[in-house]
Amino acid sequence: MSTQLIHTISELRETLSRQRRQGKTIGLVPTMGALHDGHGKLIEQSAQQADCTVVSIFVNPIQFNDPLDYDKYPRTLQTDVDCCASRCAGIVFAPSDEEMYPEPLRASVVVSELTEHLCGRFRPGHFRGVATVVMKLLQIVQPDRVYFGEKDAQQLAVIRRMVRDLNVPVEIVEVSTVREADGLAMSSRNQRLTHAEREIAPVLYRALLAARRRVSGGVRDTGEVKRHAEAMLRRPELRIEYFEIVDPDTMQPVERINGPVRVVTAVWLGSTRLIDNLLCEPQRL
Ligand code: PAF
Repeated sequence: MSTQLIHTISELRETLSRQRRQGKTIGLVPTMGALHDGHGKLIEQSAQQADCTVVSIFVNPIQFNDPLDYDKYPRTLQTDVDCCASRCAGIVFAPSDEEMYPEPLRASVVVSELTEHLCGRFRPGHFRGVATVVMKLLQIVQPDRVYFGEKDAQQLAVIRRMVRDLNVPVEIVEVSTVREADGLAMSSRNQRLTHAEREIAPVLYRALLAARRRVSGGVRDTGEVKRHAEAMLRRPELRIEYFEIVDPDTMQPVERINGPVRVVTAVWLGSTRLIDNLLCEPQRL
């Protein structure tokens, strides 16, 4: 299948309005490129459900709180387009910074409360940047469905809330995390790990699994679950940014586990920041 590469909003809008006039449904997979099998799963799911899948590839400057992180972010457009073509995406939308932000932004989307802790606490302005660019992409593409990975659970909760509060007419599809054979969640940032760091990285998933075992085994006190899992992460190469047990919808920390919870973590391994999470169901009494 041939995939069309589009760089401008006007060309994308024209192409999509032709599709819509023919009664075709549209799926959007927003990405920042450096695509891996995790993105691949989002694209495949959209290609199964929609007549036309648009993959946006845009390293969004306004969601990076660290300019060095923005500069270092991998940019691999040609390989990404090939990946989209092999997964039957109809369109790759790869706008320039000037196309997305022709003048300084005077309007942006702020989702309060959900963004005030976890990643939001350590990356000031990050979720405002994410919510704003996702809103822009939704306005530009006007898809029937938009696809996000469970790995970025807080991002997903923020976008769900934005769509709900602002009555955005789109269905959000959550796609489960894709992992390497040793459990490491796939991420574009994994390519920055040194060989030694890559060997250590799966401990993150093992700590989450240990937490899940405790929750499903009946432990109700989140402090106890956290202490045990954090001990597994305490090693000289790793710095824990947070390890929390939160309500899956509001992402607010819980003290007693009385229903499903999400265990979420962010750590630094050398100069790479990794995040991961698992949904945990407590044992029914
Ligand atoms: O998850 C990402 O890759 C980005 O945060 C997103 C949703 C594409 C917005 O830039």
